[in-house]
Amino acid sequence: IERTLSIIKPDATRRNLTGKINAKFEEAGLRIVAQKRIKLTMDQAGQFYEVHKERPFYGELCEFMASEPVVVQVLEGESAILKNREVMGATNPADAADGTIRKEFALSVGENSVHGSDAPDTAAQEISFFFSGLELVG
Ligand code: GTP
Ligand code: MG
Repeated sequence: IERTLSIIKPDATRRNLTGKINAKFEEAGLRIVAQKRIKLTMDQAGQFYEVHKERPFYGELCEFMASEPVVVQVLEGESAILKNREVMGATNPADAADGTIRKEFALSVGENSVHGSDAPDTAAQEISFFFSGLELVG
């Protein structure tokens, strides 16, 4: 059993899509074991996406992530990291497979509705960025 960090991004919370996106996770066998709605500051968004700080879209990405509330959540399941990325679909919705969250809901490569951790080490790091041990019930 594995855990991964998921974020429902501002373009999706703004369009009231949290429930529809959560249904996709649950249908795929992922369990939402922690969840909260928060508004990131620019500093927090910058820290979270620090790995991308040299990329040309970094400023735009941080402004977007801090623009409106997000829902941060921990998803649990068998191969949760990979499974979540399959359910999310490709970064650019134009490349995303049918039935994926990004194919159905994303607006653009930037406003692409969801984030998911990409490996076990980043999942652990991203979960502890948003959640304390007390918020993670086994
Ligand atoms: P995340 O799960 O959010 O990390 O997406 P990803 O792993 O599929 O993509 P990646 O880590 O390469 O990029 C992180 C995020 O940066 C993406 O989800 C997009 O929101 C944003 N991003 C990536 N490429 C572009 C781009 O060309 N333009 C803009 N504006 N944003 C981008
Ligand atoms: Mg990524």
